[in-house]
Amino acid sequence: MKDYFNTAYPSIDHLRKKAKSRLPKFAFEYVDGGCNNEIGLRRNTDDIRKLELIPYYLRDYKDVSLKTTLFGETYDAPFGVSPVGLQGLIWPQAPEILAKAAFDHNVPFVLSTVSTASIETIAEITEGKMWFQLYHPVDDAITDDLLARCKAAGVKTLVLLSDVPTFAYRPKEIKNGLAMPPKMTAENMLQIMLSPEWALETLIKGKPEFKS
Ligand SMILES: Cc1cc2nc3c(=O)[nH]c(=O)nc-3n(C[C@H](O)[C@H](O)[C@H](O)COP(=O)(O)O)c2cc1C
Repeated sequence: MKDYFNTAYPSIDHLRKKAKSRLPKFAFEYVDGGCNNEIGLRRNTDDIRKLELIPYYLRDYKDVSLKTTLFGETYDAPFGVSPVGLQGLIWPQAPEILAKAAFDHNVPFVLSTVSTASIETIAEITEGKMWFQLYHPVDDAITDDLLARCKAAGVKTLVLLSDVPTFAYRPKEIKNGLAMPPKMTAENMLQIMLSPEWALETLIKGKPEFKS
């Protein structure tokens, strides 16, 4: 049982509670929150919980497998780690940690354009299996450069964003003054002091910055 399940965090709710206690408030609210009044976030969460699985009994499931082939690679599951910007602000070296976990479990890892790890670092960790999510920069020369770096690093799968014409309106981030690196307001300093593990790790690993 212990080997099979993570006994400390058997559910997302357990992980969420732990993250809340471990991260500065500005970092937790960034990853936990959504845009505007978070109506879309709540609706998505509610809707996915409404899905019902229909069991089919007394069938031979001996050879059932979650393995899936996507863009020429076979993965152990049909889902992976989706792109999240500023990950290193949530936890130091989060993209490196997640990319390694995804690689070890043979599921896709998608690196955001606005990540805190470079294309080259994550391509090396995933042996070129990472997918790169491109936010289309205003300057075409930057796009060309990013794509050339992907190609040189052996990245074969590109994820194109088409749904973000401008910055999202995120009231919590506006209130928290969330920036890269985080703004050293008295409130944020206090939050960092109340998260000593996060502060120490950030001190050791270096302050997060946009690497691409
Ligand atoms: C904090 C946060 C940051 C995100 N950053 C990016 C990003 O940089 N690029 C991107 O394509 N999607 C980004 N997303 C969207 C996610 O990749 C994902 O598509 C979205 O959260 C929906 O999946 P979910 O319902 O599992 O949260 C972000 C989502 C969150 C919550």
